[in-house]
Amino acid sequence: MTIQAPEYVRRIAPYQAGKPISELAREYGLDEAKIVKLASNENPLGMPASARAAMMAAIDDLGRYPDSNGFDLKAALSRRYDVPADWITLGNGSNDTLELAAHALVQPGQSVIYAQFSFAVYALATQEVGARAIVVPARDHGHDLDAMAAAIAPDTRLIFIANPNNPTGTFLPASAIEAFLAKVPASVVVVLDEAYNEYLRPEDRFDSSAWVKQYPNLLVSRTFSKAYGLAGLRVGFGLAQPELTDLLNRVRQPFNVNSMAQAAAIAALDDAPFLQRSYEINRQGLERLQGAFRQMGLPFVPSYGNFVLVKVGNAAAVYEKLLRAGIIVRPVAGYGLPEWLRVSVGLPEENEAFLKALPAALAG
Ligand SMILES: Cc1ncc(COP(=O)(O)O)c(C=O)c1O
Repeated sequence: MTIQAPEYVRRIAPYQAGKPISELAREYGLDEAKIVKLASNENPLGMPASARAAMMAAIDDLGRYPDSNGFDLKAALSRRYDVPADWITLGNGSNDTLELAAHALVQPGQSVIYAQFSFAVYALATQEVGARAIVVPARDHGHDLDAMAAAIAPDTRLIFIANPNNPTGTFLPASAIEAFLAKVPASVVVVLDEAYNEYLRPEDRFDSSAWVKQYPNLLVSRTFSKAYGLAGLRVGFGLAQPELTDLLNRVRQPFNVNSMAQAAAIAALDDAPFLQRSYEINRQGLERLQGAFRQMGLPFVPSYGNFVLVKVGNAAAVYEKLLRAGIIVRPVAGYGLPEWLRVSVGLPEENEAFLKALPAALAG
């Protein structure tokens, strides 16, 4: 090996993305149009028409760099979340925001806390800055906040919490998060990752921007990739007080969110009917999938997101048989869950196609 790289970089296991439709079609000789992909927690409605129109209007300006400060998008977010614009960090997807936190705040050797079975990018962000991961065992597939608070070490700089969590779909109520935030020392930054927030039922929702006003060490992370239907554009954002926001922006690439993404996000943010449709189709799909799993006697983790974690036994074999039937779901052995599959909620006909193929995939 002649190229010198830090050992902590060499140890990183590459992120396993959901299999693309075109790749499955090529590998198995299937018709792309008939393939159902329920593997990446995408919005089955696709992108909102309002965002498409905004992008068409923005296309003529692509010869120029994007607005590095995202003035218009931040203004729209500022109105929506009732925080000043200098409390907002734009990310190339919320993935980017999560990494900005690790890059801005953590030195090699310091520690970062996250839960077992929580989103894979927390481990990546920790490893790529050479930090030490403190992985706190899950409770009922979700975060054990008491154990996470107890795990804080003198060198802990960051704690990642996903609510709802991916890949398990578990949820922490507002009271649990409030109690946790009150316990965390001011020197430790908490990243509250709410990528699936818009899928919560009204009775489960809470105003996390109010916590941002209370806690200078809190970063709330959101995305346009899920309920807003813009996963391919890569746009997310963080809300935090100015001192923390300023640090994140020091390590942010100046043009990390492209012009089309900024224009589309502004339109999507205002598209309440699309958001409502996304929410409804997801609730119906969740009920359908979970009801079917219950009937089939398959254990599952009740989900608050746009996907369900279901226990199928030999998940690698079931995954493979589903692929042959043209259905892509997500194996989660990499998360330490080799008997489970994660299935994203699709359109009604996509959910039915999956449920139709499942019994044969489970047999023998
Ligand atoms: C919990 C969680 N956070 C963040 C993300 C990142 O999404 P994006 O980078 O598309 O905003 C995901 C994507 O699956 C996720 O599940």
